[in-house]
Amino acid sequence: MSIHKESIKRVTTHILSEMKLKGEKIAMLTSYDFSMASIVDKAGVDVILVGDSASNVMAGHETTLPITLDQMIYHGASVVRAVNRALVVVDLPFGTYQGNSKEALCSSVRIMKECSADAVKLEGGREILESVNRILSAGIPVMGHLGLTPQSIHKFGTYAVRAKDDAEAEKLLEDAKLLEDAGCFALVLEKIPASLATKVAESISIPVIGIGAGGGVDGQVLVAHDMLGITQEFSPRFLRRYHNLFEEIKGAVENYIGDVKSKDFPNEKEQY
Ligand code: KIV
Repeated sequence: MSIHKESIKRVTTHILSEMKLKGEKIAMLTSYDFSMASIVDKAGVDVILVGDSASNVMAGHETTLPITLDQMIYHGASVVRAVNRALVVVDLPFGTYQGNSKEALCSSVRIMKECSADAVKLEGGREILESVNRILSAGIPVMGHLGLTPQSIHKFGTYAVRAKDDAEAEKLLEDAKLLEDAGCFALVLEKIPASLATKVAESISIPVIGIGAGGGVDGQVLVAHDMLGITQEFSPRFLRRYHNLFEEIKGAVENYIGDVKSKDFPNEKEQY
């Protein structure tokens, strides 16, 4: 297949900040491969996240921790090859930026060079600020991620709603401001009370994109496989399912098996 990049106006970090100013909501979805990214981009999503949720969705791991930088680069490069319009953000996987800021920069440079991505995303606030600063100083756009940060699941011990108490809410608000001041172009807030997410979105000027964070933020993100009903076991309250593709695909595969077994497929027109 030959791949031609069409001349469509691409979404940039600048366009996202204009959308926030105009009150136009940002739609973001995950993709991990060429075929899905092509559909999601053609549908008109603004941002595609090559999330480390690929560790769960693509590889079947229980957490996001096992996925490697090389694997994220493989997914990121596959997605970028499909995309004509959306801004593509690639997650820095666990262990590739927390140790020191030089390692964080090297990991980000590899993502930008080897995927041709538009930006990277990192989980955390004050603890990773030095890494964020160093990545930004190299001219690489950074998206923050606060609230439920799945790479810290072993510290939290649960995927329950975060920042319900005053101390954690206060820290989250401070971290959001630190990330904005550092120069992050956007922030993901995952699974926190809607009232807190709204307060964050109103307190900072960069776009805030929520997942399980209510409607008072500047945009929404979901894992595409969850909203399409391909994954079945995961059904948190915030997830709206737009399809039941698991059943649809299973039905189609069952029909195919039946046709092969009954010798209905291939028929005379389906052969040479
Ligand atoms: O990895 C991912 O898919 C994410 C989203 C859930 C925001 O970080």
